[in-house]
Amino acid sequence: SAVGVSRPHESAELHVLGQATYTDDIPELQGTLHAALGLSAKAHARIATLDLAPVRAMPGVVAVLTADDIPGTNDCGPIIHDDPILAQGEVLYVGQPMFIVIADTHTNARRAARKANVTYEELPAILTPQQAKAANSYVLPPMRLERGDAEAAFARAPHVARGELFVGGQEQFYLEGQIAYAIPKEGRAMLVQCSTQHPSEMQHVVAHALGLNSHHVTVECRRMGGGFGGKESQSALWAAAAAIAANYLKRPVKLRADRDDDMMVTGKRHCFWYEYEVGYDDTGRILAARVDMTLRAGFSADLSGPVATRAVCHFDNCYYLSDVDIRAGCGKTNTQSNTAFRGFGGPQGAIAIEYVIDEIARNLGKDALDVRRQNFYGIGERDETPYGQAVVDNVLPELTAQLEESSEYRARRAAIDRFNAASPVLKKGLAFTPVKFGIAFNVTHLNQAGALVHVYVDGSVLVNHGGTEMGQGVNTKVMQVVAHELGLDLRHVRIAATDTSKVANTSATAASTGADLNGKAAQDAARQIRDRLAAFAVTLHGGDVADVHFFGDAVHVNGVSVPFAELVQKAYLKRVQLWSDGFYATPGLSWDPKTMRGHPFQYYAYGAAVSEVVVDTLTGEWKLLRADALYDAGRSLNPAIDIGQVEGAFIQGMGWLTTEQLWWNDAGKLMTHAPSTYKIPAISDCPEDFRVRLFEKPNVADSIHRSKAVGEPPLLLPFSVFFAIRDAISSVGGHRVNPPLNAPATCEEILRAIDAVAAQS
Ligand code: MTE
Ligand code: MOS
Repeated sequence: SAVGVSRPHESAELHVLGQATYTDDIPELQGTLHAALGLSAKAHARIATLDLAPVRAMPGVVAVLTADDIPGTNDCGPIIHDDPILAQGEVLYVGQPMFIVIADTHTNARRAARKANVTYEELPAILTPQQAKAANSYVLPPMRLERGDAEAAFARAPHVARGELFVGGQEQFYLEGQIAYAIPKEGRAMLVQCSTQHPSEMQHVVAHALGLNSHHVTVECRRMGGGFGGKESQSALWAAAAAIAANYLKRPVKLRADRDDDMMVTGKRHCFWYEYEVGYDDTGRILAARVDMTLRAGFSADLSGPVATRAVCHFDNCYYLSDVDIRAGCGKTNTQSNTAFRGFGGPQGAIAIEYVIDEIARNLGKDALDVRRQNFYGIGERDETPYGQAVVDNVLPELTAQLEESSEYRARRAAIDRFNAASPVLKKGLAFTPVKFGIAFNVTHLNQAGALVHVYVDGSVLVNHGGTEMGQGVNTKVMQVVAHELGLDLRHVRIAATDTSKVANTSATAASTGADLNGKAAQDAARQIRDRLAAFAVTLHGGDVADVHFFGDAVHVNGVSVPFAELVQKAYLKRVQLWSDGFYATPGLSWDPKTMRGHPFQYYAYGAAVSEVVVDTLTGEWKLLRADALYDAGRSLNPAIDIGQVEGAFIQGMGWLTTEQLWWNDAGKLMTHAPSTYKIPAISDCPEDFRVRLFEKPNVADSIHRSKAVGEPPLLLPFSVFFAIRDAISSVGGHRVNPPLNAPATCEEILRAIDAVAAQS
């Protein structure tokens, strides 16, 4: 079988040989020009004068365009239309594009973009979520999900803990930056080659900006060098700007963002500021919880609404909360418009409850794993989420028991206590954290996909589907699904670039649903071809259609085995249709954004991790000594790819919570806008002892081959690293004081927390 087996990534060989084509590698057409963006230097200001004559005078400059030169709508917002492609009259953050320079070379365009004479009338700027909340400044109305009676439950609770927490944002840091290459076609048509997770959305945005219909615009993406959510909506600015320039000059125009510009212009993971309150009993069971989350949305809505919704729907994480009041406000700030990033608000929702549980455990002198278990969703009882969906696939008891044993959690806890008692400077910490993550887009209609499967007369197969490849392996998985349906070896199946002219009206490859949705759509297409071939085979060889089997590159019918290619050849001559489209819409979903209730997820994916760290309490430096992760991939389509996803997500999430710090100065300028100042994890940050395993159990939901999504949920596994660091800090005060540790837990933040604990001990 082609599914359920470890197979290399479909482009692995091209990747390592440097032969995989990314957008910038596409050979440039004759006459191609290069664009760069002129950026705002102020966080909030009226543009008093914008003198572009010095830009036009620079070598190689062909044209300079402003908002006035946009033939259609000056907007690239995905949901709410508050996102200008080019600022007009007012700038809302440092880095906001104001004009497009088009020149003969990339370097000439960039040099010229710096030369504008701009005078600003500065306006007051809001930079932090705290300031946004105080000023009642929001990009959307705040949301609230209530269940039960939190007020009454607090009044009954024997213990109450309250506090605040700040969790910073995160730059996507895809290795391939944002890029679009726009090529004018016959009539007014436009082809845009673009690094994007959402070709259909790019098609809409480009059509609107140019005042065209969708059928005029084709968007194509063979692969991205990473997206991580950052190319879901925010590839739009680049696609639109390149298309506006190409349309204006009737020449191909490429716009490739330099790393610093990319980081200055585009949004990141939202930072969250939480105010929380929790009531609990002597056993550690949570009786009442209240949280108010304020996100730094940035200057426009972008995807902040859906991100906040997912945060609200993941505040429960693995825990039954009978009486709960969850609020989220998308603070409007004069910073980049924050957007999707792996987990899409889910990690930010769940980390708050984990912080609270960590605190309850310390207050009661209990092991945090025991308090977690005490609050787990039940099976057949205590199983309804605050938004009303029952948790019917709970594997937490089994999964956590398995990891508790394989990681030797209890023995290592005792060993760490002994180590710390004898070690005054170096302190070790350990933490066990579980994950539950809802799979599907909250917005029901997005849960659909299409595919196109061509079987050619030589028996080879070409597949188009609506998903995009960003390294996560969706193409490999879809190939496996199609090969499995037709009984073929993988080498007979090839996946073509994602192309809006092949599969229409696709959803973003996001919410970890790429393989779930597109796998099912491609399966549907392949099955139709298989059924036709089976019926045809019976006309040749007799027998029953139900007994025709496809495996080993052959069709097995009534005791005869016919090579697949041979049957296909014969079918062609008998005018049997050898290609098909396919479609899938996830069943059983519903969501009411007003009441914040429904059945938004098809199923949940689970996982857990144990991390052990050592912290130098004099410098705040630390090291991850060992990490054990167990992830519920259902019946994995491709265990090798899934383990790669878990490892990558773990290290990426660890970076978010520890070393990756976004820092804006008082004038609202992002100062950490390059790898020199923004520290993503390196190979040396990976633990030497890293034990990642899949928890193999078929999905109870009818997902593609009963697999489970894997793209995002493992990003929550390194919560265990953050809480292991907090545990090590806590040992400084004999575990009697809750370390006030914010994320990222940089060395400075760790020292600050150690000082706070020491001061209270
Ligand atoms: N893995 C790689 N290598 N590169 C990426 O950009 N993006 C992540 C995840 N894994 C990403 C990745 C994000 S944010 C999502 S939503 C999923 O992949 C999307 O792909 P899938 O739905 O096919 O899992
Ligand atoms: Mo992933 S954040 O849903 O692109």
